[in-house]
Amino acid sequence: MKSLASTLVPSAVEKLVPYQSARRLGGSGHIWLNANELETCAQYGDLSKGSNDHYNRYPDFLPQDTAQAYLAYCEQGVGKLNSEIVTVRGADEAIDLLIRTFCTPGNDQIIICPPTYGMYEFCADSFAVTTNKIPLLDNFQLNVEEIKTQLPTSSLLFLCSPNNPTGNSINQADIIELLEASKTSTLVVIDEAYIEFSAHQSALHLMNKYPHLIVIRTLSKAFGLAAIRCGFLLADSSVMAYVNRLIPPYPIADPTAEIALKALSDSGLQAMSKQTAELVEVRDWFKSELQQLNIVETIYSSQTNFILIKFNQGLNVFDYLVKQGIIARNQAHEAALSDCVRITIGSKQSMLETLNTLKHFQ
Ligand SMILES: Cc1ncc(COP(=O)(O)O)c(C=O)c1O
Repeated sequence: MKSLASTLVPSAVEKLVPYQSARRLGGSGHIWLNANELETCAQYGDLSKGSNDHYNRYPDFLPQDTAQAYLAYCEQGVGKLNSEIVTVRGADEAIDLLIRTFCTPGNDQIIICPPTYGMYEFCADSFAVTTNKIPLLDNFQLNVEEIKTQLPTSSLLFLCSPNNPTGNSINQADIIELLEASKTSTLVVIDEAYIEFSAHQSALHLMNKYPHLIVIRTLSKAFGLAAIRCGFLLADSSVMAYVNRLIPPYPIADPTAEIALKALSDSGLQAMSKQTAELVEVRDWFKSELQQLNIVETIYSSQTNFILIKFNQGLNVFDYLVKQGIIARNQAHEAALSDCVRITIGSKQSMLETLNTLKHFQ
């Protein structure tokens, strides 16, 4: 039986032969003269003193040890996953790759549920793919019935859970209902950039049952490694076969793969869990303090490292904070989020200063 991925893939991608980079071609030998690299290491002081002194060579097509370490981290608690994994330059690259792999410009559409992360629509726009917007309900949950009506004409459904900028997790029963309804029409992508901060279950445990489910992850949030640009895409081999045709020849820089591997070691994972628990504590304390302020109308429940706050109508709290040197994110451009500001949870000290500044708003 043909996989859903193979029925969606544009013929141009289907015909594509991946660029045969030197690393992809592989081989065995003792003199490597096939990639126009500098054969000897240039000396740049400290640069060559790291664990890796072979930056003169192109990196692996896929840093296997890093990818496998992330897969093992994912399998903790859910057991063996049948999925394949690729390492990408942040979750953003995964979003872009999926749209370019499964959508034909000027022809196909994706579904998003705003207010949500802006890159789904941006990547679709940049590739002349239509974005069908089905807004979240007032409680920031999915309009499942409306999404279902649009599935037959949509290649990809992007869900973000926990969602940015609302902060809530999507009901798992809704995700399952949509996975059932989309089996023959639409690949379902769940962006779990903030999953480590959430008390709710990841969608990973659904992957073996639903081969058209794709999960995107990142080291930019709970792992605190936004600067290294490292994310992961997990999907069934039927999906990955096409993603692998478009992925850049050398997707991940060696220093990135090395740092990621350290973060995914036992001690790295312990450090991440500890700092995540600490951040959640600060988040919940900040929220309870904010509740005391009369400029605050609503504080939305958060499963992330940020809080969405609705301030009393007409108060320009965002501009006030900027004038005090505190840069939050204004959400007023979203129809459903007028008077809302999204505040990232920083250190306890930064949150104390933010709180005191808010107390003096006038
Ligand atoms: C929901 C969501 N997905 C993906 C990203 C981008 O992650 P990365 O840094 O891995 O590209 C962000 C960044 O803010 C995000 O909020």
